[in-house]
Amino acid sequence: MKILVTGALPYANGEIHLGHLAGAYLPSDIYVRYQRLKSRDVIYICGSDEHGVPITLAADKQKVNPQDIVDKYHKSIKESFEKFGCSFDNYSRTSLPLHHKTAQDFFTKIYDKGYIYPKTISQFFCHNCNMFLADRYVTGICPNCGNDKARGDQCESCGRWLEPFNLIEPKCKTCGEKPEERQTTQYFFKLSQFQNTLQKWISEKTNWKDNVKRFCEGWFSQGLEDRAITRDLTWGVKVPLAEAQNKVLYVWFDAPIGYISSTKEWAEKKGKPDLWKDYWLDPNTKLVHFIGKDNIVFHAIVWPAMLFAHGEFILPSEIPANEFLNLEGRKLSTSENWAVWLPDYLKEFEPDSLRYALAVNLPENRDIDFAWRDFLSRNNNELADVLGNFINRVATFVNKNYNNNIPDNSKFSESDNEVLVKIEETTKKVGQLIENFQIKEAIRELMTLPGLGNRYFDYQAPWQSFRENRPKCDTTINVCCRVIASLSITLEPFLPFTAEKIKKLVQIQNKNWDDAVNPAFGKTLGPISILFPKIEEKVINAQIEKLGKPNVESQPVTSQVKEKEKQMEITFDEFKKIELKVAKVLFAERVAGTDKLIRMEIDLGTEKRQIVAGIGLAYTPEFLVGKNIIVVTNLAKAKIRGVESNGMLLAAVDGADISLVTLEKDIKPGSQVS
Ligand code: 2FM
Ligand code: ZN
Repeated sequence: MKILVTGALPYANGEIHLGHLAGAYLPSDIYVRYQRLKSRDVIYICGSDEHGVPITLAADKQKVNPQDIVDKYHKSIKESFEKFGCSFDNYSRTSLPLHHKTAQDFFTKIYDKGYIYPKTISQFFCHNCNMFLADRYVTGICPNCGNDKARGDQCESCGRWLEPFNLIEPKCKTCGEKPEERQTTQYFFKLSQFQNTLQKWISEKTNWKDNVKRFCEGWFSQGLEDRAITRDLTWGVKVPLAEAQNKVLYVWFDAPIGYISSTKEWAEKKGKPDLWKDYWLDPNTKLVHFIGKDNIVFHAIVWPAMLFAHGEFILPSEIPANEFLNLEGRKLSTSENWAVWLPDYLKEFEPDSLRYALAVNLPENRDIDFAWRDFLSRNNNELADVLGNFINRVATFVNKNYNNNIPDNSKFSESDNEVLVKIEETTKKVGQLIENFQIKEAIRELMTLPGLGNRYFDYQAPWQSFRENRPKCDTTINVCCRVIASLSITLEPFLPFTAEKIKKLVQIQNKNWDDAVNPAFGKTLGPISILFPKIEEKVINAQIEKLGKPNVESQPVTSQVKEKEKQMEITFDEFKKIELKVAKVLFAERVAGTDKLIRMEIDLGTEKRQIVAGIGLAYTPEFLVGKNIIVVTNLAKAKIRGVESNGMLLAAVDGADISLVTLEKDIKPGSQVS
């Protein structure tokens, strides 16, 4: 059987943080490393998700091309994954032409089969940002649970899948303004047609995790609806239809297809361009998608429906989705920098310490808190004092008393045999747990072995038997070396860097998981090194101090974007289309329930109008009455908090500081401004 393992493709708009690692990448890496040790035909596929609005916004803000943003983060994400030990067989990226073609072919195939149709719909458009708002860029109150930070696609608090128009008091996430509805044609995927097929398919997945099944049942009970899979954007995979110029595929449509294109790239790099088919077209391949819980709907419902529609590729066999990782008792927040970024971590600590601290506490069945003090204690009390100490004391003993030669055993006593049996049992049990995606339980089980080793060493007291009963001492040390050699194999999926050092120490030849039951170690010891230096309290305190403070480099660039700067060049003719006129403010009042908005009645010479402006924090209504201001008069009408605004006044904005653009002389209302 072949196994195709994927890690969710991370967005290339910021660095990887601990939440990502605990959600998808660490468990998948552990799983894959284990499968490789079992000599299974496994490939591990990932890559950067390089489309979507966050990237375009970031590029606009920084006055660079979207490609520059994704180039920067693709490179650094790839590097930090490597340093953390993520052993992808291929780490690709969705801006590659290979991916665009694969995604377009996928679209065309299901379009030709009649599963995609055009429909004119209303969509939110933000005036201020001059763009249609992607679902994630509308926020508001969840109609289901009342969470006031619900996104247009989903409420993270109750998990409900939403449409932006479902939100109460919708706002543009970027600028906070209320968006208006506009008409546009989008292409819809007939997801509703797949409800029965999906329900039946998921009902057969008896071993799937409860969280995944529960989520799916929730969506089925609401009834699946067709989904728009195109967007009015320029950055992304172009919709392969002549009549859909200027539209791209919705990022969540193209991203999972990235698993296929990354596999194709892997095959090309291997010089066997068709090899990807051995995995994606063979029903005997076990396809395993590791994801965080915010991605469940896309992987367990939309993507399988796309695959059913397409008809040629295999479907996911397993979707071991993890819950969220909180940090120091609070939800992770990238915009508030309440996060630990992988490149920052790697500058100061060893990858294996984090791999361990996360693995023993993975959010497999519920949200879990990561605390720096727990990290310290895991490193110092478990890795250093139990695992490191056991290996070190055995190695030091061999070095001092046996001149670095590992002694042969003589006849095993009952207590020696107990240890040997425990090695075998642990190896089997840990393997079983990993196969069942119980990674947390697996590492906990495995760590009982060095604990047992320490107790055995103490109980056997080799420092005594060395003088009094040399064969006994030889056997004790030999058994201890077996434990260490076995651990050098079984620890590899969890702590690959440490396992490598231990392998060099015991000079082990074996490469297979099952060899851990009876490992073939060398006759002499290799170099002894401190495996886990202890971490000082003050180093940890400094990390805690950093939380919540700005760290612009790592944060996703969109969370740094507070306001979209318009640097688009326009012609003079385009500029002339904007009608600017002098207006006198006749009346002004605050819009009920807001601090920011002021409704004004203005005199434009030939007519009177009402406008609404967000200047309430800088000006009182009384101050505004009688002022001459400049207004854009030919802008489409908009409703702001339910109040119609027929024009837009000009003001200069510097963060919270706002200054009205006024006139130096009293000039007749209605005068043209040019
Ligand atoms: O949530 C995310 O980070 C997405 N970029 C995951 C995409 S997974 C897959 F579909 F590519
Ligand atoms: Zn906006």
